[in-house]
Formats: sequence, C-alpha cells, structure tokens
Amino acid sequence: MNRRLAVLISGRGSNLQSIIDAITRGALDATIAVVVSNRADAAGLLRARDAGIETLVLGPREYAGRDAYDKALVDTLRARDVGLVCLAGFMRLLGKALLDAFPNRILNIHPSLLPSFPGLDAQRQAIEHGVRVSGATVHLVTAQLDAGPIILQSSVPVRDDDKVETLAARILVEEHRIYPEAIRIVLDEKWTLEGRRFVLAANESRLS
Ligand code: GRF
Repeated sequence: MNRRLAVLISGRGSNLQSIIDAITRGALDATIAVVVSNRADAAGLLRARDAGIETLVLGPREYAGRDAYDKALVDTLRARDVGLVCLAGFMRLLGKALLDAFPNRILNIHPSLLPSFPGLDAQRQAIEHGVRVSGATVHLVTAQLDAGPIILQSSVPVRDDDKVETLAARILVEEHRIYPEAIRIVLDEKWTLEGRRFVLAANESRLS
C-alpha cells in the first residue's frame, strides 16, 4: 500500500508529533507527504516545519462551501500522491468527496472508548457520565461521526478526583502510543472488514 501519509490537524499537533517520532525511530515505515491545517494558528504546523514536512493551510472561508473545500482537499492530497489520510485533531466533518476519494483510507483518533462519547468534549462527557474507565480509539472514518470500524483501543481508569485536564492527559499518553501502531497495521494490509469489524489476519497481533 502507498505509504505516503497526509496528517490533518487543527491545533496542538501532539498526535502528529507521535507519528513523526514513530517514523524517525523506525517503528513506522511511512512518509508524511503533507500536513494540512484548517487554521493558520495551529501549533502543530510548527512541529511539521521543524521536521521538514510540507505544510498547507486550507481556510474554510476561502471556499464556497463544504463541497468546494473537500474537493480542494482531495486535489491537494492527490497531487502529493497520498495513500492514507490521518486525522489528528482535525475539527471539521469530512464530506463525501473526501470519503469517496479515500475509501477505508482515512483514520481518526478519538479520546474515548467508542461508541461511548462520540463528538466534542469526549473527556468531559466521560467524567460527567461517571464511567470508571475511558480511553482512546483509532478507527476508520465513515460518513457517520466517530462510528467507523475500530482498529485499536486502549483504556485508562477514570479517578474520582479527575478533572477534564487530568483525564485528557492520561488518555493522551495512550493516543500517542496507539495511533502510530494503528497506522502501521493499516499500511501492512493484513486485515479485512467483516461488516463493521476490523479483523486482523491470524498471524498479525495488536499490541494493545
Ligand atoms: C486529541 O485528544 C484527539 O484525540 C482529538 O483531538 C485531540 C488532538 O490533540 N481528536 P493534538 O492536536 O493531537 O495534540
């Protein structure tokens, strides 16, 4: 499979950094072809530039609407021969153009154990619900928000004295561990989809 990645961000970019670091230390055989942000002030853009990766800002206001934006994104990624799209804190819903251009080739990381707590503020949702365990999920992106086939998950305890920040920090450690591993698994192509289940070949193992 084409191992050229695009990483899409909107902010801090710590998951982007974990992917860069995994590639640098040889744990992930891939190249980040481009980092795209919808916001010019995303701190993650600096991380990409520091690593010598091309960066692009696609501001939604420069386009007529979601369709035009998504088509521009598809053109941008195709022009760079991208094979896999990794959403890493990209705060936009993806439209049909992007989903159709990269079927089962778009990954997302979400800070809860899906299907619990999809959408915004997943860590706050977990605390307010009173669950004792939460975690991180990497999944394939489909048209339905945070609902695609699950590649990897990792759990963490939720403590009585947790605030959103302390729980988010505990989950983030797991995010950084499982996202590069999930990318490796997808790129290695020893998997199939059975309904909505992401199933690994018998001789492949998940670390989480
Ligand atoms: C992470 O918590 C990720 O799970 C969520 O957005 C946050 C992005 O953080 N989708 P960062 O920009 O990767 O540091």
